[in-house]
Amino acid sequence: MLYTKNNADFKFAQISNVRLLPCEALYYDATWVKAPASEGGRYKSPIENMSEAVRTMMRMDAEAAQESAASADAGFLWDFWYPAARSSEIAGPKLVTAMLLEVPLVLGRTSEGKVFAMRDSCPHRGIPLSYGRLDGKVVECCYHGWRFDACSGQCVEIPSLSSQDKLKVERIFAGHYPCEERDGYVWVYMNAPGTKLPETIPAAPALTVFSEKYKITHLSCELPSHIDHGIIGLMDPAHGPFVHQSWFWRKRGSIHEKAKQFEPIPNGFRMSPHSPSTNSAPYQLLKKITGEPVTTTIDFVLPNLRTEIDQSGKMWFSSRATVTPVRRDLCRIDFVAAWNLFFLPVAIFRMFGKVFLRQDQETMIQQAEGLKHNPRLMLIDDADRPAKWYFTLKANLIESRRTGAPMVHPMDGPTTLRWRS
Ligand code: FES
Ligand SMILES: [Fe+2]
Repeated sequence: MLYTKNNADFKFAQISNVRLLPCEALYYDATWVKAPASEGGRYKSPIENMSEAVRTMMRMDAEAAQESAASADAGFLWDFWYPAARSSEIAGPKLVTAMLLEVPLVLGRTSEGKVFAMRDSCPHRGIPLSYGRLDGKVVECCYHGWRFDACSGQCVEIPSLSSQDKLKVERIFAGHYPCEERDGYVWVYMNAPGTKLPETIPAAPALTVFSEKYKITHLSCELPSHIDHGIIGLMDPAHGPFVHQSWFWRKRGSIHEKAKQFEPIPNGFRMSPHSPSTNSAPYQLLKKITGEPVTTTIDFVLPNLRTEIDQSGKMWFSSRATVTPVRRDLCRIDFVAAWNLFFLPVAIFRMFGKVFLRQDQETMIQQAEGLKHNPRLMLIDDADRPAKWYFTLKANLIESRRTGAPMVHPMDGPTTLRWRS
């Protein structure tokens, strides 16, 4: 039996003056039925067992759902790793919620210490699994007590089943996602809705470090912006003298013309190794201490990673900023930095880092105010060329995934960009 929003019996329920709203959800009967001996006597799945008419209805509903999902495309890049939470937040038997690309997630850590990520929705009636409890390596739903293996999502028990029931419990799965820990974050691989995980998935990103001993710290802040605005804000060289004016970093008056060489790299672009801006005090200090030139390399790689490596002699500083889509109107910057600079205490770095992030965040809050009214926007050369590359890389990646043809890179070789900042 298929219960849909169009099914008259299901449309409204009057329970002592409480009117339930018509339900958009699609339910189907999950009972497995034994076929007659003439058909081999095997158990048929709920889908096989449905009449052709019912199967068609479900197919039509699925197609309609896919179409509406496509028309509501939020501009996310699927099939990549995204940081969902800090490792330190996932401890003990507690279940933690997160959202990535508008997918609600429940995260936890099994009694063996392995992190897991499931869709925060019970496949029975959709109640968030995060209201349930974690028991070793099994998540139990709070509603009817269905139990799911936390790492595979596989159902392991339905308490209401009697000895007569034929339902194959192990064929029921809660949504689950590959989950890894790196550099103090829990990363979740977000495969596109309705698609199967590929056989092999790339390793989760890891911060590059250059010595055994180093300091490391993390900062994060939310931006009330679409992911694209978050990302082009991150790679935008021209806002520095206006947004990040500080006594410790630079003054507005220090604006001057710069020429930077860029080169294509897989899925992104690199600002080729160069000596960083002479108007930034920390680089001047580093050069004084080591007596050697400072070189900086900055990469941007899809879907959202900006890494920067500064080296001078044996001293190094390595950082990564990711801008992760939470919803289409909200993203989050996660910033991690590691270094072996003896003269830079973590507390001091954090103090300056927070000022920086706060300046970006305030600007994005102000920008969101303007974007509410759908203004026309501009990208200018050369200062906005990295933003143009980002949009083209993104479009070309989507196109190459659609056609199976190799991805076309927007740059045909090294290029010099000039701007004043
Ligand atoms: S809703 Fe989860 S077990 Fe019923
Ligand atoms: Fe900034």
